Amino acid sequence: MLVKESQSLTVAFIGGGNMAEAIIGGLCQDAQYRLVFSEPSIDRRSYMKEKYPSVDGYGSNDQVLQQQPHVVIFAVKPQIMKTVMLDLQPMLQQHQQLHGAIPLLISIAAGISTTSIQRWLQLGNALPLIRLMPNTPALIGEGAVGCFAVPNAVSADQRQLTESLLGVVCKQISWVDKEPLIDAVTAVSGSGPAYYFLVMEAMQNAGVEAGLSVEEAKALTLQTCLGAAKMAMESEDDLATLRRKVTSPKGTTEAALKVLEAGNIRQVMHDAVFAADERSRELAEEFGKE
Ligand SMILES: NC(=O)c1ccc[n+]([C@@H]2O[C@H](COP(=O)([O-])OP(=O)(O)OC[C@H]3O[C@@H](n4cnc5c(N)ncnc54)[C@H](OP(=O)(O)O)[C@@H]3O)[C@@H](O)[C@H]2O)c1
Repeated sequence: MLVKESQSLTVAFIGGGNMAEAIIGGLCQDAQYRLVFSEPSIDRRSYMKEKYPSVDGYGSNDQVLQQQPHVVIFAVKPQIMKTVMLDLQPMLQQHQQLHGAIPLLISIAAGISTTSIQRWLQLGNALPLIRLMPNTPALIGEGAVGCFAVPNAVSADQRQLTESLLGVVCKQISWVDKEPLIDAVTAVSGSGPAYYFLVMEAMQNAGVEAGLSVEEAKALTLQTCLGAAKMAMESEDDLATLRRKVTSPKGTTEAALKVLEAGNIRQVMHDAVFAADERSRELAEEFGKE
């Protein structure tokens, strides 16, 4: 259900927390979107009203659905997704009966499968439903997100709309065609920022031990990480080639890389990613239970 470009498109958020705010903050400048959200906390609603005057906050999910949204984004904690779904079920069912269609449903709740959502909503398996796994840099507009659309239920226009909405917070948008791959996305980009925080922390500490001030070591570490990522993005070379190009024989980089390889950094990163992948599957099972 898409509207013509000149009409406004209502996007509803269930939950007005950090992730909802990041997307709202990016979208609220664009007049084509009318943004509404539900949020039980009065303080949080007041904060949002002050910061985003054009966005309407409501105390209940029912009130938000009464705004006839074209898209509903579920941005609540995974533990309360089931409660929210059971709460919204009658209204969505009524909407389906009245309009013959359901708004596009987008869930960003980590670990909640589309099968669980379908089971809780009891509106059939042809619901236009998309599951996302964003990461925390989305909070500053630098996110990476993995998306899974329920097969044969989400139109090309709805995928494109999802990309436009996500584009305000994510620089990388990847679609996976099998839902279990969302666990792999979680293990690489979802949890990934923390891997880099750890590596940067270790680099900063080593720089301090080598004689730099904390401020210098931190600034040099952060810019090096950012610069390396940007260089890799802009270069035609793959990562291994880029590494070889900055590694002169018998030079300083080679000396450092030898230590990293001897410490089995490749195996350590492999095991870390696979541990996150496995944990993501375990959590999905836990959250998806009746
Ligand atoms: N933050 C991230 O970077 C990130 C990354 C990947 C995925 N996610 C996913 O994004 C979702 C939201 O995360 P977040 O960090 O934005 O969490 P958050 O800041 O806690 O936001 C959730 C909001 O939902 C509100 N809420 C609670 N019960 C509600 C209900 N029944 N109806 C409507 N709203 C309700 C909460 O209010 P109260 O605080 O008053 O309970 C809170 O303001 C999570 O499922 C998380 O897995 C987040």
